[in-house]
Amino acid sequence: MAEKKVIAVVGATGAQGGGLVRAILREPSHGFATRAITRDTSSAKAKELAKMGAEVVAADIDDVESLKRAFDGAYGAYCVTFYWAHVSPEREIAEAANLANAAKRAGLRHVIWSTLEDTRRWVPLSDDRMPTLMGKYKVPHYDAKGEANHFFADLSLPTTFLQTSFYWDNLIGFGMGPKRGSDGKLALALPMGDKKLPGIAAEDIGRCAFGIFKRGREFIGKTVSIAGGHLTGAQMAAALTRALGQEVRYEDVPLDVYRRLGFSGAEDLGNMFQFVRDFEKAYVGARDIAFTRSLNPALQTFDEWLARNKDRIPLE
Ligand SMILES: NC(=O)c1ccc[n+]([C@@H]2O[C@H](COP(=O)([O-])OP(=O)(O)OC[C@H]3O[C@@H](n4cnc5c(N)ncnc54)[C@H](OP(=O)(O)O)[C@@H]3O)[C@@H](O)[C@H]2O)c1
Repeated sequence: MAEKKVIAVVGATGAQGGGLVRAILREPSHGFATRAITRDTSSAKAKELAKMGAEVVAADIDDVESLKRAFDGAYGAYCVTFYWAHVSPEREIAEAANLANAAKRAGLRHVIWSTLEDTRRWVPLSDDRMPTLMGKYKVPHYDAKGEANHFFADLSLPTTFLQTSFYWDNLIGFGMGPKRGSDGKLALALPMGDKKLPGIAAEDIGRCAFGIFKRGREFIGKTVSIAGGHLTGAQMAAALTRALGQEVRYEDVPLDVYRRLGFSGAEDLGNMFQFVRDFEKAYVGARDIAFTRSLNPALQTFDEWLARNKDRIPLE
């Protein structure tokens, strides 16, 4: 039997990487094996992955030598950075450089880099429709990823640039779920006006990545953008109302109010929502749902994701 192609997965205990590890383990007949990368091989999540059949190895994306060791002998790697762990675009850029350099030195044959648009291509710093943040970014957690694309291209790495979408899981763990107002009614507060927000079940990102690896060289050198649905805030609220069995209304928060909400990342996210909204046609247009489903036939709609996850949404 031919040897299995090993995919080394960064962030294997997290949302994107975890979805990919589970997708690979679910379909062993496709000839892939997975090497789950974690900083702590003794954690409960790491042990769970080992129990499921993954090889589990230690590496830190701030340590290029540890990444090189974790990538050695693999066929491919899934590369993702963790902006919200430190909220530093410069650090995220340095981490992406580490990932690309380690992948090059390990001689990988296919790398998926989980990236997003560098919004400054659409909104230059001189454009004052949204504030410039941290001196040189419009949407720091997008711009840093987009800017870092060049590390992969400069090294001529066989890379697929995977542009993801807003996780619907943010309604569970990122404080974006419906909140009860003073009238006791639930409201989904988003600064999206009547524009569509491409979203996806986080688990489906890894499944799409597996779809890309399975299709061999087809997407090498290409940008692939994915979403499970394009919904307005009002449509999301209507779906939540159906799933929860109680009314959730959509509260269209003005962008400047959202940016000033005061939580860490509020300005960054406010600018992100404005970018998606101001460039709806290009942003939504890039994230074709039928194409995404061709990579991942199990792709969930928002309604399907809600049916599975509604009980996990905290209703404060
Ligand atoms: N939330 C959204 O809607 C959304 C949408 C698109 C893109 N994104 C992007 O997704 C990225 C995060 O991916 P995710 O959601 O899959 O992450 P996640 O679920 O937060 O998982 C993070 C995992 O990565 C590992 N990790 C953290 N720091 C590490 C380091 N220095 N070296 C190696 N591993 C490290 C941790 O595992 P161990 O503790 O086991 O090491 C952790 O389990 C962010 O950059 C964000 O901008 C988010």
